[in-house]
Amino acid sequence: MQLRDATEADLPAIVAIYNTTIPSRMVTADPDPVSVESKLSWFRAHTPDRRPLWILDEDGTIAAWLSFNDFYGRPAYHPTAEISVYVAEAYRRRGLGRQLLDEAIRRAPDLRLKTLLAIVFAHNEPSLRLLEGAGFQRWGFLPAVAEMDGIEYDDVILGRRV
Ligand SMILES: CC(C)(COP(=O)(O)OP(=O)(O)OC[C@H]1O[C@@H](n2cnc3c(N)ncnc32)[C@H](O)[C@@H]1OP(=O)(O)O)[C@@H](O)C(=O)NCCC(=O)NCCS
Repeated sequence: MQLRDATEADLPAIVAIYNTTIPSRMVTADPDPVSVESKLSWFRAHTPDRRPLWILDEDGTIAAWLSFNDFYGRPAYHPTAEISVYVAEAYRRRGLGRQLLDEAIRRAPDLRLKTLLAIVFAHNEPSLRLLEGAGFQRWGFLPAVAEMDGIEYDDVILGRRV
């Protein structure tokens, strides 16, 4: 399993993993599958030196990815990034999510980051456990801020100083 920066050629696989999580209503606030084209500007906002998008590649198959994203984006927030981690269903519970998270924590200082944040649905138990297992703490609770199919969902903000 090789950890490397994603290239634009990886975007269809990255989006495919993302789209598999939509029906669960547990992971993402997108109610419908997204197109590769719609994620191009998101993809291009990543830079290996400050806001990387990493993938775990097993012989050409993308098993998982982790992205660093601006939090707000204004200058005072530059030392803080929001991360997202997605593992393809066939590769879950093998430690890949934790591996990516540990690597994000380890390499954060090189990326000039002091704080990592993750914003997850309060009922996303796998993510909460993954993040808390890696030393993230619950820093915020946003009740009923999301709504899909007429059902309201809470968000939890988790953070870790690095
Ligand atoms: C959350 C997710 C990234 C976990 O990835 P993973 O590679 O399966 O996780 P790991 O094998 O590294 O597990 C690490 C820890 O996370 C927790 N965990 C992972 N999956 C879990 C599950 N289904 N139920 C409960 N805890 C879970 C456990 O504490 C686990 O440690 P353990 O195996 O010693 O019990 C994966 O389920 C996923 O891609 N989910 C959809 C996307 C998502 O929700 N991303 C979070 C948005 S930031």
